[in-house]
Amino acid sequence: MTHPQGHGRHDRILRAAAALLDRRRFLTVTGAAATLAFSTNMPVAGAAQAAEAVPGALTEYPFTLGVASGDPTPSGVVLWTRLAPRPYEPAPGNGLPEAARVPVQWEIARDDRFRRVVLRGIATAHPEFNHAVHVDAQGLAPDRVYYYRFRAGPWISPPGRTRTAPAPGSLPYEMRLAAVSCQAYHDGYFTALGHLADEDVDAVFHLGDYLYEYAVGATGGARAYTDRTLPPWFAKETVTLEDYRLRYALYKSDPDLQAAHAAFPWFVTWDDHETENNYAGGSDESGGPGDEFLVRRAAAYRAYWENQPLRLPQLPQGPDMTLYRRFHYGRLAQFDILDTRQYRTDQAYRGRWHPPGPESQDPARTITGATQERWLLDGFRNSHATWNVIPQQVVMSRRRSGTAAASPLSMDAWDGYPGSRDRVLAGAGAAGVENLLVLTGDVHVHYAMDIKADWDDPTSRTIGTELVTSSVTSGRDGSPRPSDWSAVMTANPHLRFYDGRRGYVTVRLDAEEARADFKTVDSVTTPGAALTTAASFVTEAGDPGLRET
Ligand SMILES: [Fe+2]
Repeated sequence: MTHPQGHGRHDRILRAAAALLDRRRFLTVTGAAATLAFSTNMPVAGAAQAAEAVPGALTEYPFTLGVASGDPTPSGVVLWTRLAPRPYEPAPGNGLPEAARVPVQWEIARDDRFRRVVLRGIATAHPEFNHAVHVDAQGLAPDRVYYYRFRAGPWISPPGRTRTAPAPGSLPYEMRLAAVSCQAYHDGYFTALGHLADEDVDAVFHLGDYLYEYAVGATGGARAYTDRTLPPWFAKETVTLEDYRLRYALYKSDPDLQAAHAAFPWFVTWDDHETENNYAGGSDESGGPGDEFLVRRAAAYRAYWENQPLRLPQLPQGPDMTLYRRFHYGRLAQFDILDTRQYRTDQAYRGRWHPPGPESQDPARTITGATQERWLLDGFRNSHATWNVIPQQVVMSRRRSGTAAASPLSMDAWDGYPGSRDRVLAGAGAAGVENLLVLTGDVHVHYAMDIKADWDDPTSRTIGTELVTSSVTSGRDGSPRPSDWSAVMTANPHLRFYDGRRGYVTVRLDAEEARADFKTVDSVTTPGAALTTAASFVTEAGDPGLRET
């Protein structure tokens, strides 16, 4: 795949920006990223290699950030961990041998006691990657549960559980997934993720806002810690590579997040807050000049890759990172994971809620970029799947805030890019996609929506389903019926369900139907809230339209 903007232009911009920055810091931003290669054994090509740590150098437990797996295929999965003896401390005081690479053994077994090991190897935790470890394990059997763990020096990681995708062309009986988004650490406890770890799903889709760039105070915001004090460098907005790396450490040290990662493979995509609120392509939140912002974006993207179970094709090149990608679960489901943030044109009407107007209706506007849009429509045409699932960031269906004829719409969502929406939905129709299922995050509430052929005509054909998962914590505790509940339900007849509590969505797909369960917790500002199922909906294969069950 090629990037719409091309690397050349951004490389030039970065070089120009580098002149304004401390040279050493700039090199850690772009640095060896473009030339360091990795594979199962992490050989380093074309870059000066750090010395290997001397045996015995790892004197403290390094697996404080847990383990993760992701992007399963029928034959493989990515395993992830990061060595971080003192996760909240920047180097060189972080407990790792300074500037040294550390060999890390890994193994994959059929059983959780690691008696039947099927694969093992040695990876390298490179200082250039903040001692993150990515293993692209290949040669596994399809549709199978595996357990994995790491060893570094005398230390053994907690075990993780993962699962490969079904064989190509097979028709699995069912596929179960969960969708999550928006986990502002400072807005509360990741209780929902703790409950998610107890679910029975094949994979988790994270739809963005995995972390937030905003300052986190000494007591962890709404978490109101009384038993610990967070270091002062979390109390500032993330800008530099070191800022983003430390922020991932803060999030990844959360036990509920670790449990959910260790229980299932995750497919991740980002939204804006992994970099900066409401950025668009190369424009920052204020729509300001892009050069400095691209340096920040490069730092954010690099820290994202380092901290997620992603493969080499997702490794950023400076400020560019190909995150949109496609997966199959046999012939049952095709997943086209989108990136609606990196290639979009800047928001119309400065990103505010605004009635549709000439600026937002301009068909030249794009939320995917031309290359990703073509890739998506090609994917629809080549699909043999019963379900075409689109895990992505922002609400795709029209969403009016009130019943006025010229009701404002969110210019940050697909409502601000109606040309993109029309082309994607028309492309799905032209390709004969019968069962379109859009998974969305961003708005911190649960929605269940029928996607309509004509948003102005509730009797028009339903052409798909959009399931919007509420936040894990963002927005703090929430309530079942926020103050705008009646107005929004009335203004949007295709909106079938709206709940303002925190939680996640589980979806079960089979050849006959998709079933969605909207899970909620009543509180995130106090730990330990119970899980409830607020509502359940079914949409039948071949006959789109949500039905509450
Ligand atoms: Fe969010």
